[in-house]
Amino acid sequence: MSVTPGYRLVSLTPDRASEMLAVNTWAFTGDMRPEDLEAYASEIPFSRTRAFEIEDPSHGDVGTLAGVAASYTYRMRVPGASLVPVAGLTWVGVHPGHRRRGLLRAMMGDHLADARARGEVASALYAAETGIYQRFGYGLAARQVDVRAPRGASLRPVAGSDALRVRIEDASLERHGGAIATIQRRLDRPGTPTLDHEEALRARFADPLAHRRGSERMRVALVEEAGGEPVAYAFFRREGRWDDDGNPGGTVHTWSFGAAGPAAAHRLWSVLLDLDLMGTVKAGPLALDDPLLWLLEDPRSARARVRDNIWLRIVDVPAALTAREYLCPVDAVIQVTDPLFHDNAGPWRITSRDGEGHVEAAPGEEPDLVIGVQELSAAYLGGVSLAALAGAGLIEERTPGAVHALAAAFESTSAPVCNLFF
Ligand SMILES: CC(C)(COP(=O)(O)OP(=O)(O)OC[C@H]1O[C@@H](n2cnc3c(N)ncnc32)[C@H](O)[C@@H]1OP(=O)(O)O)[C@@H](O)C(=O)NCCC(=O)NCCS
Repeated sequence: MSVTPGYRLVSLTPDRASEMLAVNTWAFTGDMRPEDLEAYASEIPFSRTRAFEIEDPSHGDVGTLAGVAASYTYRMRVPGASLVPVAGLTWVGVHPGHRRRGLLRAMMGDHLADARARGEVASALYAAETGIYQRFGYGLAARQVDVRAPRGASLRPVAGSDALRVRIEDASLERHGGAIATIQRRLDRPGTPTLDHEEALRARFADPLAHRRGSERMRVALVEEAGGEPVAYAFFRREGRWDDDGNPGGTVHTWSFGAAGPAAAHRLWSVLLDLDLMGTVKAGPLALDDPLLWLLEDPRSARARVRDNIWLRIVDVPAALTAREYLCPVDAVIQVTDPLFHDNAGPWRITSRDGEGHVEAAPGEEPDLVIGVQELSAAYLGGVSLAALAGAGLIEERTPGAVHALAAAFESTSAPVCNLFF
């Protein structure tokens, strides 16, 4: 890992939360309200927080932080529903006075090496700007739909929905953390992270005033079976609004939700789409094939936007490829190019007869396909077809038919999405 002259890389402890948040406030703009410090600090995964301190006085006050990065410890669903260890990179920021000196590049080298050392197969992130991370091998692995639906939008019926009960309460880590972690574990969509790690779970419940922007504190809708088993949840806030004639037309905002099964999804959306005094429900991220999009009786009534969801970077090619299932039999050799980790390069023989993947080094064998780690990472969760990437000229086919065969095997039966922003 290259170290940028004049700075030293350190791990941060919780007593440096305000220093870290100061760098992020510079990087992301805005002012940190003193009363928000505790809430923001509770979101930081200090077991994996790194920073660059100024070492050379010509750069500023020695010991001051110039750049920061942190990651959550997740396990993520992959096609076939296995869970794989993944780092969730976040809080990346470099003070504007220290930008373009290689701090991010050095922090990325540190982060990816750390993920490998921890046995994680990939790193995932949400990109503030999509141009930043592709140079480090991140591919666009999932896209999301955000919808804006009118209050009262009717849903097609689903058996069992009415039997489920719903609690609507102030969001609380103590009261709802366990249930939400349980629901996350029950979701089998590729891209879903679990909330097994205490830091990852705690971060979901931070509610700084700055996040409210005129709306209320964070609430939760929790759907349970009659016996109390949690099956769906949504974090939400309402923003009240009245027009000049006194008519209510507020907005429900929901940014993180999950439902284990069709009845749970139906019950959850029935509640969120029918809150008093509201006119609109803004919901996302939805997968491109989310049940809500099929349940709406008038799908055109919900305005939908598609955008990038998570970006993924495989750090351990054989472990990653072994962990996912393959939808049809395959036997092919791929040559991976990876400028950062040469041992990812292969060639690798992928075989699968029964859905289960077997991946082994195939030294000296001629590859059927040559693929960069960015494209392999993009295709990993089944959100983009290898054929589409080849159609864009991003993959080189050496054996005629190899793209078609591998594209079919890499498909996923459901579109990936990460339902938690981090
Ligand atoms: C994005 C950011 C972290 C970059 O930090 P930095 O220390 O200036 O980056 P580096 O000097 O290490 O640059 C590494 C490479 O990324 C490129 N790069 C950096 N920021 C970029 C951006 N916003 N868009 C496109 N490319 C970018 C650099 O040009 C450089 O390219 P090169 O190696 O090919 O010459 C920093 O500008 C920042 O904090 N921005 C605001 C907050 C933000 O967007 N954070 C990311 C959250 S996901």
